[in-house]
Amino acid sequence: MIASNSRLASEAGIEIVRAGGNAVDAAVAVGFALAVTYPVAGNVGGGGYMVIRMADGRTAALDYREMAPMAASRDMYLDKDGNLTDASVVGYRASGVPGAVAGMLEALAKYGTKSRAQALAAALRLARDGFIVDSALSRSLSGSKSLIALFNGRSVFYPNDSAPKPGTLFKQPALAATLQRIIDQGAKGFYEGVTADSLVAELGRGGGIITKEDLKRYRAIWRTPVSASFHGYQLITMPPSSSGGTTIAESLNLFETFSPTAPWGTASYVHLLGSSYQRAFIDRNSKLGDPDFIKIPAELTSKEYARTLAKTIDPKRATPTPRDGKQIVDGMHTTHYSVVDDKGNAVGTTTTINGGYGSGVYLQSVGFFMNNEMDDFAAAPGKPNMFGLVQGEQNAIAPGKRMLSAMSPTIVLDPRGQLLLVAGAAGGPRIITTTSQVILNVILNNMTLADAMRAPRIHHQALPDTLMIETGGLTPDVESALKTMGHAIRYTGGLANANAVMRVQGGWHGVSEPRSGDRGTAGY
Ligand code: DON
Repeated sequence: MIASNSRLASEAGIEIVRAGGNAVDAAVAVGFALAVTYPVAGNVGGGGYMVIRMADGRTAALDYREMAPMAASRDMYLDKDGNLTDASVVGYRASGVPGAVAGMLEALAKYGTKSRAQALAAALRLARDGFIVDSALSRSLSGSKSLIALFNGRSVFYPNDSAPKPGTLFKQPALAATLQRIIDQGAKGFYEGVTADSLVAELGRGGGIITKEDLKRYRAIWRTPVSASFHGYQLITMPPSSSGGTTIAESLNLFETFSPTAPWGTASYVHLLGSSYQRAFIDRNSKLGDPDFIKIPAELTSKEYARTLAKTIDPKRATPTPRDGKQIVDGMHTTHYSVVDDKGNAVGTTTTINGGYGSGVYLQSVGFFMNNEMDDFAAAPGKPNMFGLVQGEQNAIAPGKRMLSAMSPTIVLDPRGQLLLVAGAAGGPRIITTTSQVILNVILNNMTLADAMRAPRIHHQALPDTLMIETGGLTPDVESALKTMGHAIRYTGGLANANAVMRVQGGWHGVSEPRSGDRGTAGY
């Protein structure tokens, strides 16, 4: 069972499992296919994280996050007066060194069973022979025309000056050639030779700073997953350089101290969960970063630490976050997919080029968008980034460093140790709160996966000091109770885009984000 944002990509995964592959083969096939069919977030020019749990009990976490180029520097996005520019968000200098290809090939080599040619076959076919554009892709491209048309993507994505209409065949020959080089030469087909030379040259012409040396030295890193327990269930989730797993574990540990919790949807539930998120995000924003560069306190995920920190939460009053930041809600331009195979192997992967269509820079000669992941660093520590996150020195820019992420692919085992759930999301910092609420809804609130995914979500990220609630998520009396407790409430549309797979009696249930048009579940 596979849940992703693209039906064609999910089917690419099913195709390889039908041919005897496992969940890791499928995850790699889905990942490369998303780069073709879901260019807003699927990628070879970005990076991501993969959490694996094999049926024999082995677990693994793969970090293929982008790295800052060696020529990057702490203040590279500040103007001469020390003000932040938009160069970390748009254009040639916004990109970190892509990790997606290294990551997917590493996962395939270590846990997969199929060859590169088999794992990339569907992606290659979709790029070379084309696929039929659906309304979601057509709409997404139309909505991003002003960004993409700033750079070189116009002729590919807006033939005749508009996005391909639903029902048209869409081919990407330059991307197909890049995929073919990856099939033929492995990571070298991307990080060296024609692809690397073209990437460096095209970026360089616009002022980009990624060098051939940066590409050559990129490596994906196997890390020890964060393991957390919650009401007897076990979470296997992503450690730094993503903040996702640590912040989910800390939030849930805090929330667990208030058990038995008031029912879902009550003022007490929202207050205690929101306040748990607020505390966990204060730690996230100030203490987490690339573990290869900074020391991360081990206590953040411990139950004892949660018990102490929970004492700062007044069950009846909101606590102000020490400083305020600005309100920013961006789209949901990352993509998570969950995979479970017939043998019980499970993979959760979240991948991104950060903003929708990344930096907007499309590399014409090699056929893909570059990320704007450099904005996930604290480009000016103490000032908000595009997600309104106010982060500190731990996440300042340094050459070769990985920018802190919120991506949270997570696998949940039930109290008997059986695989129960694979979940994750897109949505910047709202990834953390959404993924943990899907999990909470299933294991604490006894919802079906469909209900768990559909239930209105809440979000708090410390700064801005606001409880964000999906429209319609509170009854009027709960809203007024929360305001009386001192919460600033802001209603918003969908907070995040999740895709999850859960065990049900007799099989697996896959659910794609009900708030999005990009639904793609496939099973067999
Ligand atoms: O790694 C991160 O946390 C971000 N680059 C994720 C970006 C994202 O989800 C975009 N959607 N709002």
